[in-house]
Amino acid sequence: MAETTKTAKLTLDGKTYELPVLKGTIGPDVIDIRKLYGEADVFTYDPGFTSTAATDSAITYIDGDKGELLYRGYPIEQLADQSHYLEVCYLLLYGELPDKAQMADFEQRVTKHTMVHEQMQYFFRGFRRDAHPMATMVGVVGAMSAFYHDSTDISDPWQREVAAIRMIAKLPTIAAMAYKYSVGQPFVYPKNALSYAGNFLNMCFAVPAEDYVVNPILEKAMDRIMMLHADHEQNASTSTVRLAGSSGANPFACIAAGIACLWGPAHGGANQACLEMLKEIGTVDRIPEYIAKAKDKNSGFRLMGFGHRVYKNFDPRAKVMKQSADEVLDLLGIHNNPLLQVAKELERIALSDEYFISKKLYPNVDFYSGIILEAMGFPTSMFTPIFAISRTVGWISQWKEMIADPTQKIGRPRQLYIGQTRRDYVDVTSR
Ligand code: CMC
Repeated sequence: MAETTKTAKLTLDGKTYELPVLKGTIGPDVIDIRKLYGEADVFTYDPGFTSTAATDSAITYIDGDKGELLYRGYPIEQLADQSHYLEVCYLLLYGELPDKAQMADFEQRVTKHTMVHEQMQYFFRGFRRDAHPMATMVGVVGAMSAFYHDSTDISDPWQREVAAIRMIAKLPTIAAMAYKYSVGQPFVYPKNALSYAGNFLNMCFAVPAEDYVVNPILEKAMDRIMMLHADHEQNASTSTVRLAGSSGANPFACIAAGIACLWGPAHGGANQACLEMLKEIGTVDRIPEYIAKAKDKNSGFRLMGFGHRVYKNFDPRAKVMKQSADEVLDLLGIHNNPLLQVAKELERIALSDEYFISKKLYPNVDFYSGIILEAMGFPTSMFTPIFAISRTVGWISQWKEMIADPTQKIGRPRQLYIGQTRRDYVDVTSR
């Protein structure tokens, strides 16, 4: 728990209230207003939570000005360079990097759970073939609570642990099944001899008619995409998972809620929206038209893949992702792809345009991840499901942290009411 180092004073209607100021290990101090309503009969107002810490957490730290992202203290650049996704999962879940035996045990536990209940395939068949894979995932992940009754009791730490492992292990299988179903191909069972990322590629691209060999460069790029998206402190979908979990809902239901929130184009859906935007722009000569639209407040148009609520200098994930994009495009030899030319030129123009510079709007992680995933052969509709697979460990880690916190309460924001004051019902004949 954070320590109290000083107090802030709030004077209201001639009365002064002392508010403790809490200090974390790094980052801005927070003013503890928990007792404010009881003492002063006022709420604080912060729609969009731009100045509000909703929890304390020891998992992920972001410094938006420095462009820094730490998982359990470790910089994302070092992890992306030297670690791998399952090790990052262990780190996020348990707080420390594993030793060799711990890693082997964790890998074994995850790979033992990669298959889904055979009955689940019938569940998939209830969806239309043209359903968005995110829609399918929200439904199927929510339905896991109907299949895995022995890991839904949140008061039992062992069941929480099993649910965590199950979701980390099965989300790639579910996402790949959603994809296969949408393209009318047979489901491909997981292969536990492959890596986490390699297995996902295999489940998506293998067909019974011929062998599929996972390309190590694509496997590494996929693993990196997963590492870079694994957690991002209290973003919209993570806060959704926490809020859902605060009522005591089972973990599968909570993660389904997180997936639903992630789908939006301002959040995880931005990678799909960004690629669709690049396709819509189509050619380099049309970029100025879109830049002008993005600057025009009345157009309602935003450059997808640009800007971030927290990062105001650069997105450290985007830096690493850009490097991966170069590697993948080199490997696949697709430098002259028109989409890529539009992306590169858009990036160049936006980075030198006064509007984007002054508002600190830089390409974010989704700008580059979309380009890589497109090059790998994924349809745009699979971009956000891949984000969901990667973020599951972050959601679960945050959910576990919350449930284990003895001071945890149901999340219940208040409001500034601006509706009608009390009035009497009028019979329909007199209205
Ligand atoms: N294109 C054009 N203008 C923009 C953009 C953009 N992409 N993003 C922000 N602005 C402008 C916005 O109009 C506003 O201008 P003004 O101050 O004149 O009113 C200013 O920049 C600040 O915008 P904001 O909406 O207050 O910023 P926010 O922190 O609420 O929004 C954001 C952050 C990510 C939702 C937003 O930048 C955006 O919509 N970006 C496009 C979607 C996107 O790429 N999202 C992925 C984020 S990274 C993945 C993830 O973590 O989910």
